[in-house]
Amino acid sequence: MACIDRKTPGCRPGLAALACALAATWALHTGAGAQTVWPDKPVTLVIPFAAGGPTDVVARMLAIPMGKSLGQPVLVDNTVGAGGTIATTKVARAPANGNTVFLHHMGMSTAPALYKKLAFDPLKDFEYIGQVLDVPMTLLGRRDFPANNLQELLAYIKANQDKVALANAGLGAVSHLCGLLFMSQIGIELTTVPYKGTGPAMNDLLGGQVDLLCDQTTQTVPLIRDARVKVFGVTVPRRLTALPNVPTLDEQGLKGFDVKVWHGLYAPKGTPPEALKKLNAALRFALQDPVVKQRLADLSSDIPPADKITPEGLKTHLEAEIARWGPVIRKAGIYAD
Ligand code: MLT
Repeated sequence: MACIDRKTPGCRPGLAALACALAATWALHTGAGAQTVWPDKPVTLVIPFAAGGPTDVVARMLAIPMGKSLGQPVLVDNTVGAGGTIATTKVARAPANGNTVFLHHMGMSTAPALYKKLAFDPLKDFEYIGQVLDVPMTLLGRRDFPANNLQELLAYIKANQDKVALANAGLGAVSHLCGLLFMSQIGIELTTVPYKGTGPAMNDLLGGQVDLLCDQTTQTVPLIRDARVKVFGVTVPRRLTALPNVPTLDEQGLKGFDVKVWHGLYAPKGTPPEALKKLNAALRFALQDPVVKQRLADLSSDIPPADKITPEGLKTHLEAEIARWGPVIRKAGIYAD
């Protein structure tokens, strides 16, 4: 603001006032000398599984409208490994400045029982933004698998138990839990093959390197429609509008088979309330986006009711799910480490 100084060459008092006013306006717009307004840079959306899988599909679907709402791009970061616990630990330790958010599924509620040693506490180390989605799963086989329905699959498994490889997205992933439930219901243990996400697991199913995979409809609906995989049933006890001809596992004899995957959006503990409020608004905005709504409907994925897309809605649900899964997992004696 050199023009305040009347001795500055070419700077007359009238012009000085004008220049000062312009300088003040410029400072407001650029943030110079003013407090910056969050978000002032891109926001990182961490997900705990590999690119191309169902969590990745959802994250990339939400990132663009969330970015529109926030006024900054939302960039997806795939931090993979250990059934999602590496990413969860990373987010628990990330700076709580609003620039890191975390999309995870119900693995957040099963991890405390599955892992004897965890470097995070889902109930102490995070802020809650809101529930995101409920997604059913499908039990799939490679395209040339020698069975065309659940009964044929069960007969084949009985005769060839040692030859059948069941893929999953790592110990503690929902594909792992779904596979465990399937094996416990049929009373047969199969060879399991862990990956760093169902994206790479699906690549190997498509390539014929593994035989079976339990996976969320956010990834599987297009592959089933294009007959690139075989489908043996849906994991919820009602048929899906996106796949009306695919029977449920329950109706085919696996009574009570009911696996649906819920998702939540989190931030590191201590993230400023103003940022959490804007993130919640961005999540709601994204879930109301007509393109997102249509895609989710096409993938038979349900948007939760409005009162669940809230910090309290997610926290209450997470607490209830931790209480529900803990005894089930401990009773079954399943440990991931
Ligand atoms: C899981 O099985 O936990 C998820 O489907 C993993 C993923 O999103 O890749």
